[in-house]
Amino acid sequence: MSAPILKIGLAGFGNVGAGVFKNIEKNRHLLQERTGHNLVITRIAVRDASKARTVELPPELVTTNLDELVQDEEIDLIVELIGGIDRAFELVKDSLESGKAVVTGNKALLAERGQELFAIAEKCGRPIYYEAAVAGGIPIIKTVQESLIGNHIQSVVGIINGTCNYILTRMTEAGLGYPEALGEAQQLGYAESDPTLDVNGWDAAHKAVILASLSYGCWVPCDQIHVEGIENVQRTDIGFADKLGYTIKLLAVIQLHDESGDIEVRVQPSLIANDHILASVKGVYNAILVQGDVVGQTLFYGSGAGQDPTSSSVIADIADASARIESRDGSGFVTHGLYGNPLPIEQSVSKYYLRVEAEDRPGVLARIATVLGENDIGILSVIQPEDHDKEYAPIVLMLHYAPFGVVREAINQIAGMDCIREEPVLLRVENVG
Ligand code: HSE
Repeated sequence: MSAPILKIGLAGFGNVGAGVFKNIEKNRHLLQERTGHNLVITRIAVRDASKARTVELPPELVTTNLDELVQDEEIDLIVELIGGIDRAFELVKDSLESGKAVVTGNKALLAERGQELFAIAEKCGRPIYYEAAVAGGIPIIKTVQESLIGNHIQSVVGIINGTCNYILTRMTEAGLGYPEALGEAQQLGYAESDPTLDVNGWDAAHKAVILASLSYGCWVPCDQIHVEGIENVQRTDIGFADKLGYTIKLLAVIQLHDESGDIEVRVQPSLIANDHILASVKGVYNAILVQGDVVGQTLFYGSGAGQDPTSSSVIADIADASARIESRDGSGFVTHGLYGNPLPIEQSVSKYYLRVEAEDRPGVLARIATVLGENDIGILSVIQPEDHDKEYAPIVLMLHYAPFGVVREAINQIAGMDCIREEPVLLRVENVG
């Protein structure tokens, strides 16, 4: 008996869309054996049908009208890979309302408008699958949704932007400046031609919002998390961090505060100890540490971007959808209200790295230390290299655990002192896992 057909409408034939088409063809037989369905892409919507592509677009399947996918009553499942927010939102909403399941890899869409979309999905009884929206080929969504279902998630800490990790790795290992490392990442096709969302931290932040919301069963608003990118990371600080035994990484930190139930979500360039496992994650790779109260610590590592890894996640979602296509329940996101609100960033506590460029004269270090002391911020260590220019010297201070708001206020006071040149550099020191 031939396998039942799952008819798929594919919206977008860019890097990932083309990969999905190519890899479903490549592993068609295996997928049919495993899912019991023949997974068939019956329509493909693109913006420009005449564009040259590395994977050939079958002309008989192509349309430039997204509505054709939604209106096609034979299509069971829409795969949204067009990116952006507004058109993608309409497509997903219309698809759900037409009774179709949806697979999307669109992190910005879910982070910004996921709450609305999952409510629509719930109402329509159609699910949204989104494994490819976070960390490309790493199966972190299903892991949190399914494999770790028996755990309170205590923390999720990850390197979830490959472009930033590549840039920081090259600055660290090859001594490149930020512009050169970024140029290299663009040349190799890791960074987008407009890499703004990668380097300003928001690509990682969108993924962090999805992971936090999924882990804690409440939608974390994008405007209530703290996000800093890597644009201002300097070679000097990478060098000092190394002398102190640390590596600088762009880390997404998601943490449950047990007593209040508050959820801390932030993305920042941070120092982690050189012997920490996340420090060994190099180049474009991603890695995510998840700590659960039952399982303990788990680590997920792999390619966070790219045609084949990301299409592997999309295909896994298509396979899931095929298994549950008859079911009318589940939106893909379960709210349970067991946890509280996003923690205001001012209250989040860590150790810190602080570098100031200060006049090299007696009493300056004492003045800086006084401001820190008056704000109840302890100093763990201080270094000042001897080989500095005659008038100004870098002073690097490692600061004890303190609330971010208090530290920021103290740094503002220090920045205003007449003996300080340049904006002080403040980075988190993470003690994860
Ligand atoms: N541009 C992202 C990265 C992949 O560099 O990791 C897609 O989110």
